[in-house]
Amino acid sequence: MSENQKVIEIEVLRYHPEKDKEPHKQVFEVPFTDDMSVLQGVQYIKDYLDGSLSFRWSCRMAICGSCGMMINGEPSLSCQTFLRDFYPARVRVEALSHFPIERDLVVNIEGFIEKLESIQPYIIPKEPRTLAQGEYLQTPEQLNAYEQFSSCINCLLCYAACPQFGLNSSFIGPAATALLHRYNVDSRDGGKAERMELVNSEEGVFNCTAVGYCSEVCPKQVDPANAVNQNKTNSAADYFLRFLTPKGGAK
Ligand code: FES
Repeated sequence: MSENQKVIEIEVLRYHPEKDKEPHKQVFEVPFTDDMSVLQGVQYIKDYLDGSLSFRWSCRMAICGSCGMMINGEPSLSCQTFLRDFYPARVRVEALSHFPIERDLVVNIEGFIEKLESIQPYIIPKEPRTLAQGEYLQTPEQLNAYEQFSSCINCLLCYAACPQFGLNSSFIGPAATALLHRYNVDSRDGGKAERMELVNSEEGVFNCTAVGYCSEVCPKQVDPANAVNQNKTNSAADYFLRFLTPKGGAK
């Protein structure tokens, strides 16, 4: 280590279910340079101080969405959060809030995967279409309607930020609602009525209490709170349409 190299303390929440009754803190001293992310700090720990530390990562460039952690209590992508911004204070790293911890910084995301599947995250054609009919064409306005909501990287920071998901894990939550909305407003899609059943359900958007922290922590500016709010409006319209039309509901 060079004379000028700085050292920062990283406090990590550890949990190995085969031997730990409860998660507990462990502090490591990590030499760092100003270009090192929190993820690189955690990788230093694994490479040089404790090889049993578990965490997820892949791209190291805020694309894959796998490195989400609570960093000093805020849901953050560890690959785009820098140690220099905390020095000389200690930085605290914990598993994402509101998810069961599998091991150290790795959380169980099965419930989220089930939510993703439930929203049917693919285009359901309005009518059968043959290959000979060629590609779907869209206007720039039609693309604009959903493009923002298609930028989600499933990093789950919004779920760690959502107090309602913390209270009720069956709530469909921000990211799944944003993706649901992405397909519902796509001009090529005809699956809105099916997806609205979920929006209107007990697990649906009215669980949201409009805190808006989900959109604040989103690293891709997807604005899931906006998707939730638009679906509250859609759901209310659906409810009243039932009284006005024989079949009712939004199409
Ligand atoms: S490692 Fe891929 S988003 Fe951080």
